[in-house]
Amino acid sequence: MKTVITFGTFDVFHVGHINLIQRAAAYGDRLFVGVSTDELNFSKKSRYPIYNERERMKIVNSLRYVNLCFPEESLEKKADYIKYYNADVLVMGNDWEGKFDHLQELCEVVYLPRTPSVSTTEIIEVISST
Ligand code: CTP
Repeated sequence: MKTVITFGTFDVFHVGHINLIQRAAAYGDRLFVGVSTDELNFSKKSRYPIYNERERMKIVNSLRYVNLCFPEESLEKKADYIKYYNADVLVMGNDWEGKFDHLQELCEVVYLPRTPSVSTTEIIEVISST
């Protein structure tokens, strides 16, 4: 049983998110997704996500590619989550290229290309300006 793990905010869920999740799932037999908490987002970006963490987890958890969803409370705890969930592969979008290479001592680390021309930040900006 090969376990894949990935992390993200997944706010205002869009096609780039599902493309990433679908491709991540293909690296193993089951996919676990860490969804960053509202507080973690606030500490990074000084604003809360549009959808709160319960809503974002409910959306991600309902996807057919996802076997388990859990709250990611700190960016620094990735190694702990990988060990706790016995993950074999960490998949991240290539906006994080190179940032998690140190975790290769725990599991395989894969960076996947982002889907071009879509991001939550841009969607929020477009909606806010209309
Ligand atoms: N992702 C992707 N392609 C996109 C947007 C996101 O592959 N066009 C991936 C990211 O690389 C990450 C996961 O989806 O692995 C969750 O990304 P997240 O940061 O939640 O979404 P973004 O749309 O990038 O949000 P933001 O614009 O706020 O950074």
